[in-house]
Amino acid sequence: MLPFKTLIQVDKKSKYPIYQQIANRFIGLIQEGVLQPGAFLPGSRVMAAQLGLHRQTVVAAYEELASQDWIISMARKGMMVAANLPVIKPRSFKTTAVAYAQGPSFSFNAVPKLEMLPPAIGIRYTINDGFPDVRLAPLTEWTKECRSIVQSPRYTKLLMDGSDTLRKEMTKFLTNTRGLNISPDNIMVSRGAQMAIYTAAAMLIRKGDHVITGSPNYIFADLCFEQLGANIIRVPVDNEGIDVDAVEKLCRTKKIRMLYVVPHHHHPTTVTLSAERRMKLLEIIRTYKLAVIEDDYDYDFHYSSAPILPLASADHGGNVMYIGSLTKSLGLSLRIGFLVAPARFIAEAGHLRRLMDLRGDNLSEEALAAMLQSGAIERHLKKAKKIYHERRDLLCKLLMDKLDNRLQFTPPSGGLALWLKFPEHLPVQEVAEKALDLGLRMSPGMHYHYQGKPGNALRFGFASLNDRELANVVGILAKCCK
Ligand SMILES: Cc1ncc(COP(=O)(O)O)c(C=O)c1O
Repeated sequence: MLPFKTLIQVDKKSKYPIYQQIANRFIGLIQEGVLQPGAFLPGSRVMAAQLGLHRQTVVAAYEELASQDWIISMARKGMMVAANLPVIKPRSFKTTAVAYAQGPSFSFNAVPKLEMLPPAIGIRYTINDGFPDVRLAPLTEWTKECRSIVQSPRYTKLLMDGSDTLRKEMTKFLTNTRGLNISPDNIMVSRGAQMAIYTAAAMLIRKGDHVITGSPNYIFADLCFEQLGANIIRVPVDNEGIDVDAVEKLCRTKKIRMLYVVPHHHHPTTVTLSAERRMKLLEIIRTYKLAVIEDDYDYDFHYSSAPILPLASADHGGNVMYIGSLTKSLGLSLRIGFLVAPARFIAEAGHLRRLMDLRGDNLSEEALAAMLQSGAIERHLKKAKKIYHERRDLLCKLLMDKLDNRLQFTPPSGGLALWLKFPEHLPVQEVAEKALDLGLRMSPGMHYHYQGKPGNALRFGFASLNDRELANVVGILAKCCK
């Protein structure tokens, strides 16, 4: 008899019932060739004694295996591994290595990537680069809407056919908040702004195409463009936003496929494109028929004044693909964003999206539509904006009080992060290493310059930290900057 006690081990703390664990392990042994077709299993009493389990547990495992046709009951002989299974060359027990622990033996494409922060083990605080506070999420309204949809008779139809409600509600929302003059045909719902960036870029970029981005730039946009084979040309970003004269010069001298711009609370620097540059950029777009991705990822949070309307709301000849997101607005794990463009482009982009994600998350989309309709989103945004505004002000004050002007920053007019510049003699990488020892995790700076010289700066997301947490985090930062 095989040493089943060694081969089958159960985890009493697992969320899976023990009989199922045993059944799964038997299936593994059959697939690995340890148990061959036609082999007999010990009777349930013997097996139970071997494994130190109740006999009924083994009986339940055998029943499960029989119901899946892995074993069959032979009159007066007991349980036999189904004889019609393909014969698998047996492997020794010692080398039953899991297949995915090896290989693969084929080559595959590398994807441009960025080193992530170390896992948050033993970490008290993290300075993220601008996350919302999930503790403020409107969970009651969200749960209510989800429950009501799941319990409604139209739920099955919704799952099968999808629905247009969110695009209709988004049309109203974007018209009211951003002055866009659009219809539902102009909107593609995406899983966050990131998917919208990739989809729009993939519709445009062919290998070797010139794409203009800011320097520095939102790295995950750079990675998308590089993955698609673009030749990225960078133009400076100063405290008025992207240098539009440099953009025009490039348009005059080269065939530019696309410009990527973050006009509000630029990532990473948080600057806002000045009104003068906006006007000039619109002129460039019209003159050169320049395709533009306008990434307005956190438009809904603006503190100092009313936000300047997006380029997409002005006369751009249909050349601006406007991207935004509700992932930051809601602070739920809800990943819903949008791409706004001419209907012909959106129809095609929808086909591309479908190649990666056939249906989207119908339930979440419908619940979000209901919350837009009921005004719950608007109420939540109003409340969250007030709190984030206070947190921005508190962070600025703490930095001034505790760091005595050692780090430079300009309070951002909106968004969820502040751009903190470190002096040359204080490399952010060294500060990040010291901070980690004190339980604070932060970017050592490489997240803001892709393939360039890392800048000595940090995006300090303030929205997800409450007053006490902000004070503690700045306290640790101050210690590390001494
Ligand atoms: C500039 C910018 N664009 C897009 C995104 C992606 O947003 P989402 O989480 O909605 O995919 C981010 C995320 O931080 C961002 O900073």
